[in-house]
Amino acid sequence: MHIHRLEKLWLVFGISMLAVFLTVVGVGAFALGMEPPGGHRHTVDPEKLSTTAPFDKPGLQRLGNGEYEANIIAFAFGYKPDVIEIPLGAKVNFNITSSDVVHGFQVVNTTINMMVVPGEVNHLAYTFTEPGEYLVICNEYCGAAHEVMMMKLIVK
Ligand code: CUA
Repeated sequence: MHIHRLEKLWLVFGISMLAVFLTVVGVGAFALGMEPPGGHRHTVDPEKLSTTAPFDKPGLQRLGNGEYEANIIAFAFGYKPDVIEIPLGAKVNFNITSSDVVHGFQVVNTTINMMVVPGEVNHLAYTFTEPGEYLVICNEYCGAAHEVMMMKLIVK
């Protein structure tokens, strides 16, 4: 039964190639996980935000020269802090992350619209040239109280 032996050989060969393939893919994914491509992504442990700068002190920090940093934590269902006062004309560098699930950070009547992902820090700079109260809403469905998840920016 020569044909039977040949089939067996091919079967063994096929399984071996599959094993090699899975190993390569597995090792590749592991290597990528350890070293994300690009290197510009900021990661953060969502469980340790209360002890991780800058999220250990959420709110507005002055950097000087009319520049500020706004460090904000999104959670179900709100933002920390829930109100930030911004001096008129200030350039604000937003750093935002989530302590639980994916949220949104959209500032109504501006171009600010970010996705907030747990484990990552999203950045965006914006200069406020119009005084007033700006409503911030969550535009990613995040659960039962998604509709009422909001905060306020007061520019004056
Ligand atoms: Cu948070 Cu929707």
